[in-house]
Amino acid sequence: MVHADASNFAQGVTKEEAYEQVLLQAEGLFDGQRNWVCNLANTASLLWHAYKSLPSPSSQVNWAGFYTLDPQKTAKPQLILGPFQGKVACQTIAFGRGVCGAAASTQTTQLVPDVEKFPGHIACDGDSKSEIVVPIIVGEGDARKVVAIIDIDCADLNGFDEVDKKYLEQLSDLLTRSCDW
Ligand code: SME
Repeated sequence: MVHADASNFAQGVTKEEAYEQVLLQAEGLFDGQRNWVCNLANTASLLWHAYKSLPSPSSQVNWAGFYTLDPQKTAKPQLILGPFQGKVACQTIAFGRGVCGAAASTQTTQLVPDVEKFPGHIACDGDSKSEIVVPIIVGEGDARKVVAIIDIDCADLNGFDEVDKKYLEQLSDLLTRSCDW
């Protein structure tokens, strides 16, 4: 049964351990539930509470959530705001625009130590100094398609490293196979 305790993370654990718990809890929550709104919402909660339990810079995460592929037909494909934790954010982002748009159009993780140095960065919140964006991809070969992105922002510079990349990419794979996109 789903219980709010899933969002409780012990203080003093390593970032690796916190991510392992996120993955484990997420897998449990997705059991018998394939709706992406529901699963992304619970995942945003797990990530937010995991970061808050860690030392700086992870504790300085100020936005954790998702943009999904906008089903509305536009000239260029675009992302639309999905479930998240943090302050209100930009509603739509064209593929190729900013960090999120770059992850969507290139289908690769964007690890940005200083957002000011990223060409075209979208400053939804001036507090955000660094960012990691991981695409969620379905399909193989030519049919590969970005259906959503994981976006985590941090109020400190250099908020993310290869550990975040490794585990968020694992989380992305889990979401690819656990939801009906
Ligand atoms: N900074 C992002 C926009 C999204 S928000 O930060 C939530 C970007 O440049 O893609």
